[in-house]
Amino acid sequence: MTKTPEDLRSHRWFGDPGLRTFGHRSRMRQMGYDPEDWEGRPIIAIINTWSDINPCHAHFRQRAESVKTGILQAGGFPLELPAISLAEQFVKPSAMLYRNLLAMETEELIRSHPIDGVVLMGGCDKTTPGLLMGAISMDVPAIYLPAGPMLRGNWQGKTLGSGSDSWKYWDELRAGQITEEDWQGVERGIARSYGHCMTMGTASTMTAIADALGMTLPGASSIPAADSNHIAMSKMVGRRICEMVWEDLKPSDILREGSVENAITVAMAMGCSTNAIIHLIAIARRAGVEATLEDFDRLSRVVPVIANVRPSGKEYLMEDFFYAGGLPALMTRLTDHLDLAMISVTGRPLGEDIATARVFNDDVIRPIDNPIYAEGALAVLKGNLAPQGCVIKPSACSEKYQNHTGPALVFDDYAELKAQIDRDDLDVTEDSVLVLRNAGPVGGPGMPEWGMLPIPGKLVKAGVRDMLRLSDARMSGTSYGACVLHVAPEAHVGGPLALLKTGDMVTVDIPGRRIHMEVSDEELAQRRAAWTAPEDPYQRGFGKMYMAHVSQAHEGCDFDFLQTAAGAPVPEPKIF
Ligand code: FES
Repeated sequence: MTKTPEDLRSHRWFGDPGLRTFGHRSRMRQMGYDPEDWEGRPIIAIINTWSDINPCHAHFRQRAESVKTGILQAGGFPLELPAISLAEQFVKPSAMLYRNLLAMETEELIRSHPIDGVVLMGGCDKTTPGLLMGAISMDVPAIYLPAGPMLRGNWQGKTLGSGSDSWKYWDELRAGQITEEDWQGVERGIARSYGHCMTMGTASTMTAIADALGMTLPGASSIPAADSNHIAMSKMVGRRICEMVWEDLKPSDILREGSVENAITVAMAMGCSTNAIIHLIAIARRAGVEATLEDFDRLSRVVPVIANVRPSGKEYLMEDFFYAGGLPALMTRLTDHLDLAMISVTGRPLGEDIATARVFNDDVIRPIDNPIYAEGALAVLKGNLAPQGCVIKPSACSEKYQNHTGPALVFDDYAELKAQIDRDDLDVTEDSVLVLRNAGPVGGPGMPEWGMLPIPGKLVKAGVRDMLRLSDARMSGTSYGACVLHVAPEAHVGGPLALLKTGDMVTVDIPGRRIHMEVSDEELAQRRAAWTAPEDPYQRGFGKMYMAHVSQAHEGCDFDFLQTAAGAPVPEPKIF
């Protein structure tokens, strides 16, 4: 369908003569605009998550100007609207607590303003799902503009990766292997340009997912933030969104079962962050597509990890991935697993979008028969400890923990863990299973990234660098180790994790996809009868609303009143 100027959504604000539109037009003139600026032109919102405290989006003021240039070149009218920035490192207790707030803000910004199309500017972890979820629910033409990864870190000639090398060198410092001066050198060298984390963490995973869903210009997610191609891409986004408005190409035309499967497939091949599961389920459900933990597990068994990027890979980072051809090149290696008929924001099928892509470095983007991990990035486990499932990243954990039984050492909350973990008399060995509970969607609240529990100090000093860990929290996509996460239902709402006691034997069997506590049903019934719910962490404000409406991890942690029923069309957005 091709739109006429009278069909534009913004026409309601400016088109008809009358007192209401007089008010809008006179106030536009107040800002120095005249009808030539807006008449017959698509009005494009640039929803910008820039802030003074978000280093991942520090270049977004300049990039917004490039987007505006593109919009003006294509005959549109740009309108920049700020949204909550969600800087992962600074927002406490977790940026995840506010992902749904950004989604709601995005939806309401679009609904309440004279907007015909939208450019979504994000990249730092939760901004990608938050912006996409809101735009999908409003279903106006939308393009996602990813921030791009920062440049590789550098210290004493060694390449440093976001997150992963922070944990690694922190353990080396605790073990006395590096000095305080070395540690400060790591601090200076690990984040040396704007852009999001450049390991295959949540940011790189989620922007690749946006790309694979078809919501970015093809390959946009791989361009480093500081590369001049990123500026050029921003202008292209501005031009393309204007065309999409006239073509009436909306998220509902792009997001289908096939595109969601493509995104899961790409996530697996990238060695994705475990957070991908929660966010992609939430994104898909906004579009009325039912994505489940089983879908992730099914595809993880057939799609190998071929992106040799840390933390699943040993050496390379996202900058290397871009030079090797980026996401379109990776997708050329997955064509047997992808639905090439799915269209993207280009309006073309995926098969055409990647037709000219090539791999330039077979060690960074491996051939399918020489993967870095043969069985995919994530495994979903179920059992009496997690009836609704939990996840682990087998590609980032030691071989000895792929099938392991050990005694639980349970911490009831993060404060207790922090107070105890470095005690020299802690009763723990490398065979113990460290457990943190009450850190889930409700109990955290917001599932903080506490799931890579620190190795106890006395074991670190003895050379231990991995242990089996278990929690209802999430972990950073840049983390690694034998960490079982997202246990559902969570302990705070009475999931079986709440009943586990220190000393109970716990089995984690990744090949068998099983998690089990060796406690009889009778004993569990007695413990349940004696269990009382912990106090809610929030008594007022957004936190209270969040706790009342957030779904569990296996359902995507969206609010119950924002999801679209499976198979149903996205509800027509109400305009007042
Ligand atoms: Fe922003 Fe990692 S802190 S992406």
